[in-house]
Amino acid sequence: MPAQNVWMEKRLDAIEQALAASLPEGELAPTRLHEGMRHAVLGGGKRVRALLCLAAAEALAGNAAAALKAACALELMHAYSLVHDDMPSMDNDVLRRGKPTVHVAFGEATALLVGDGLQALAFELLSSITHEGVASNQALAAMSTLARAVGPAGMVGGQAIDLAIAGSAQPADTPCSLETLQAMHRMKTGALLQAAVELGLCCGPDTGARDASAPQLRRFAAAIGLAFQIVDDVLDVEADSATLGKTAGKDRAMAKPTYVSLLGLNEARRRALALHREALQSLEVLGSLQPPSLPQALPPLSRALLSSPPTSSASPLPPALQPLAQLADLIVHRKS
Ligand code: IPE
Ligand code: IPE
Ligand code: MG
Ligand code: MG
Ligand code: MG
Repeated sequence: MPAQNVWMEKRLDAIEQALAASLPEGELAPTRLHEGMRHAVLGGGKRVRALLCLAAAEALAGNAAAALKAACALELMHAYSLVHDDMPSMDNDVLRRGKPTVHVAFGEATALLVGDGLQALAFELLSSITHEGVASNQALAAMSTLARAVGPAGMVGGQAIDLAIAGSAQPADTPCSLETLQAMHRMKTGALLQAAVELGLCCGPDTGARDASAPQLRRFAAAIGLAFQIVDDVLDVEADSATLGKTAGKDRAMAKPTYVSLLGLNEARRRALALHREALQSLEVLGSLQPPSLPQALPPLSRALLSSPPTSSASPLPPALQPLAQLADLIVHRKS
């Protein structure tokens, strides 16, 4: 197996185990709530946000145990956003990750509580990074970053814009502008992906290396954050429900403004690729700043990447940055 795949497989296993351990047992009362939370989180999902957090922390040779907790907090938060996004009052979807959505399987009231429970659990878990040795000011910064990313300035705000403009009869001369669409995408999806990288930074060492890396890592995160939702819009049109694990063609059916509806498939794809290039360029700039000693400080798995071939990025990146490049590739070239 190529070293990059080894990196991802190992992280996915660790994320899955830590997520299962972070959730209340299904047999524990109130069982319906707990079963619903486990249904929403476990056994599905690409875990892109968690992987980004781990990759960012590893790029800085950060605190791996803390990063795993932060990664799980991100996935709990993301799962909550999906449960509510699928509810009848929002996107009214019946399929998620190849399974019935939480409100279909457990009822609407439970789905509401499942989302609420996951959100609270995410913050509780994130606060516990102090037990792994992260300084309390860094943990506080992580919590505030996550709160902002999912609040009115982030995910929830973006969802509100989505609801406000979807299906509304836009007169032909005043369609949803590209600026509004981009702002909505950055908020509803980009913000949590950006927070994933930021939480990885919070688990990095409290040194000048972290501060020096932050601007390019943030540029990377902003680019892949927007690209992620553009690709989601493209896949809604291009892929089938079985591959997606969620209902294809939903955006058109609900008259959602998307990159595809505004610009067409080709231009949407072109923009996603341009953002991919931007993300890789930011890693190349970062790579040129990396102190030569950094790879020595990496955990063994990342050191294994030293002998691996470069990713699809044209110029070879330092091994410590290759997982991030691999995730940018996955975000833009994924099929589901
Ligand atoms: C879907 O996110 C919702 C969006 C923000 C577009 P993902 O495509 O990451 O969903 P999972 O976690 O892999 O199911
Ligand atoms: C959802 O966007 C973004 C969230 C905040 C959950 P979509 O509504 O396009 O996500 P999917 O396509 O249902 O996964
Ligand atoms: Mg939606
Ligand atoms: Mg949806
Ligand atoms: Mg979508």
